[in-house]
Amino acid sequence: MRALHIFAFAIAIFLSVNALPYDKPNVYTIPLKSKSITRRRLSRRAIGSMPVNQEEPDIAYFGQITFGTGTPQNFDIQFDTGSGDLFVFGKNCDSPACKDKPKYDSGLDTSFKPIDGKDFKVKYADGTEATGDSATTSIVIAGVEVLVQDFGVVSEISDDFKEHPYVGIMGMTFSNTSQNE
Ligand SMILES: *[C@@H]1O[C@H](CO)[C@@H](O)[C@H](O)[C@H]1NC(C)=O
Repeated sequence: MRALHIFAFAIAIFLSVNALPYDKPNVYTIPLKSKSITRRRLSRRAIGSMPVNQEEPDIAYFGQITFGTGTPQNFDIQFDTGSGDLFVFGKNCDSPACKDKPKYDSGLDTSFKPIDGKDFKVKYADGTEATGDSATTSIVIAGVEVLVQDFGVVSEISDDFKEHPYVGIMGMTFSNTSQNE
């Protein structure tokens, strides 16, 4: 999950700017420290921006991540600041929560590489659980490409995911909180 964290900061800034309250105009104050940064380091960090949507008022934030090459596949993925794994619904998911939802097809992805024999498993504080296979592919997020990104192709997920407008989660914490290291 390491490569992902390079972008987490940029996205966190973007979220905090765009996460305007739904009805009540609250004022949020974010302390920022300025720090000089060379042009080279800036380009290595490859900061991008992307539109972010919210689920209901302030329930969750999600945006589009492109998975794979050959036939790039776009999915709405939730940005989660409290976990450290990335997953998307896989084509073979037949859980009720996956029904009639967009699903990732590894057969269309020329960058897809299974991590042999490694199951993917996550459990979140709200009780949501998902299982599947661990793999790597390239993803594009906020216009920035991550060439080798670990992720889970989920084949089973708990029912509570049915209501969500997104088909996966991107954990934005440090990689040492990943449940699939
Ligand atoms: C995870 O990594 C971060 C950054 O290196 C560190 O601050 C934190 O203490 C680590 N947490 C655990 C549980 O090891």
